[in-house]
Amino acid sequence: MVEPAGVQRGLEDVVALESRICFIDGRQGRLIYQGYDIRDLAEHSTFEEVAYLLWYGRLPTASQVADLRQRFGQLRALPPTLAEQIRSMPLTSSPMDVLRTAVSALALYEPEETKPGSGSIGGAQRLTAALPTIIGTFHRQRVGLPPLTDRPELSQAAYLVYALLDRDPTDLEARAIDVALLLHADHELNASTFAARVTASTLSDLYSAVTSAVGTLKGPLHGGANERVMELLDEIGTPELAESVVRDKLSKHERIMGFGHRVYKVEDPRATILREWSRKLGEAKGNMRYYELLRKVEEVVHREKGLYPNVDLYSGSIYSLLGIPHDLFTPIFASSRVAGWTAHVLEEYQDLRLIRPTAKYVGATDLRYEPVAERTG
Ligand code: COA
Repeated sequence: MVEPAGVQRGLEDVVALESRICFIDGRQGRLIYQGYDIRDLAEHSTFEEVAYLLWYGRLPTASQVADLRQRFGQLRALPPTLAEQIRSMPLTSSPMDVLRTAVSALALYEPEETKPGSGSIGGAQRLTAALPTIIGTFHRQRVGLPPLTDRPELSQAAYLVYALLDRDPTDLEARAIDVALLLHADHELNASTFAARVTASTLSDLYSAVTSAVGTLKGPLHGGANERVMELLDEIGTPELAESVVRDKLSKHERIMGFGHRVYKVEDPRATILREWSRKLGEAKGNMRYYELLRKVEEVVHREKGLYPNVDLYSGSIYSLLGIPHDLFTPIFASSRVAGWTAHVLEEYQDLRLIRPTAKYVGATDLRYEPVAERTG
């Protein structure tokens, strides 16, 4: 379809606002959080440090990060009525639908957090602490695991594994999840963050903004892609079949999930880091199947379409190696991105202007009005 002049479909390349939180250099393949290169953060930092960095604009001292860890531990438990409501939701529900509903419902129990403004930092910490509990409460109910305890001694990454699998991760597993979480924590004006900022720009509250963001993340073109990557691997089966399956899909103009990006024109730096973690974890577990399949898929897609991997290509293989079911991948993404969503909402409150673009109208303007009785169809 030819676009009317002046319309940037999908708002591509439109600069919507100024932000200090995250910078993507799509040509150089660099991702920066508050001035720090993601590669340094993935090498040396934890999710807790990154959440602090996104919210406060500086890396925490050792005692500040210890305080934040302690705070997360204190903020994990849900109001008992809400926990019960989550357990009573249809067990066949999509975990993202449960998450969206529960985030919205949590606001009913925390009315003090629904006053928009800089005080929303408490809500940001609460939501970040509580998201793994929401997901874990639902998942444990549907698979018959015992109820959660707060486990304040665990990092966010280790708590997430415990919440979902009812076991403590090994050090290597915990670090793999920690890196995956910090790599997903923010990504400039991605669709869900934009949705959160649009909601906040009406002077609505943080919980409403995060509810909008969860609903936006759910779509397969955004957060749902890593789940689809694992479905593709199941369909391919063995590396020898990768070539024919992928080529067949491309010839039918199907999209291969985990490839392409609106901003990156080279490899997504998060994919580079996660590829290495997928290999490391695969070696430790004596299961290189996912890694080998993904390498083969990468080779074919790059050769045939010139597309590079994005963050979603390898993340699902890491979660699968731990034994996490596919439909929890997007909720895991949410439990990390909530740090970024809330940082952006806090920034929005500090420099607020209602986000309200315009549309180029291409419909009619001079139709003759017919009363209902005269309309023929
Ligand atoms: N597989 C196959 N072809 C792809 C593709 C993919 N993953 N991503 C882009 N393309 C192709 C499109 O078909 C289009 O080709 P055409 O010009 O011949 O029609 C071209 O590349 C441009 O695609 P477009 O949809 O305009 O780019 P975009 O900037 O809107 O898309 C994404 C960005 C992320 C939506 C897109 O790359 C995609 O759908 N990727 C798969 C989903 C995914 O992994 N999402 C997670 C993102 S982190």
